[in-house]
Amino acid sequence: MPNAPSQSPDAAPTAAPHRTVHLTVNGIAHEIEVETRRTLLDALRADLHLTGAKPGCGMGDCGACTVLIEGEAVYSCLTLAVACEGRAITTIEGLSSSDGELDPVQSAFIAHDALQCGFCTPGQVLAMKALLARNPHPSDDEIARAMSGNLCRCGAYPKILAAGRALAGHPS
Ligand code: FES
Ligand code: FES
Repeated sequence: MPNAPSQSPDAAPTAAPHRTVHLTVNGIAHEIEVETRRTLLDALRADLHLTGAKPGCGMGDCGACTVLIEGEAVYSCLTLAVACEGRAITTIEGLSSSDGELDPVQSAFIAHDALQCGFCTPGQVLAMKALLARNPHPSDDEIARAMSGNLCRCGAYPKILAAGRALAGHPS
């Protein structure tokens, strides 16, 4: 006969541990209390009410949740909020200037009609932003490779590439 479980089925569940995290998001300092298992995506959307980063697959496949951490594109669904202590995060809400002027990447996406439903667009724009920050004049292959972690169910890839080519200074 198997041994009885050591814990009574009526035992109260153990409370998940919480921790205070300090994040600078789009230039604004925040202090939030989060469960240690909370993703950055959930912290941004639910705690800070910044819903630009989208919950897609939730498992690192689609890129809809892409944000910038210290300028580097990351999947916020795979990043724990507590791992971002003291870090500077940029979401799509922080890309335009305070007077509403769009970032050049946003303008290029509009000019090249590089979106359809728009669900993937915040992640696409931020992935492109990170690419251009480290390589202002990427080749077509470099653009395609850098954007390969951001899926688009609407199939806007040719127009996203066209926006990237324009930003990189290639002739249309
Ligand atoms: S929601 Fe994060 S990669 Fe899909
Ligand atoms: S524009 Fe619809 S998923 Fe990309």
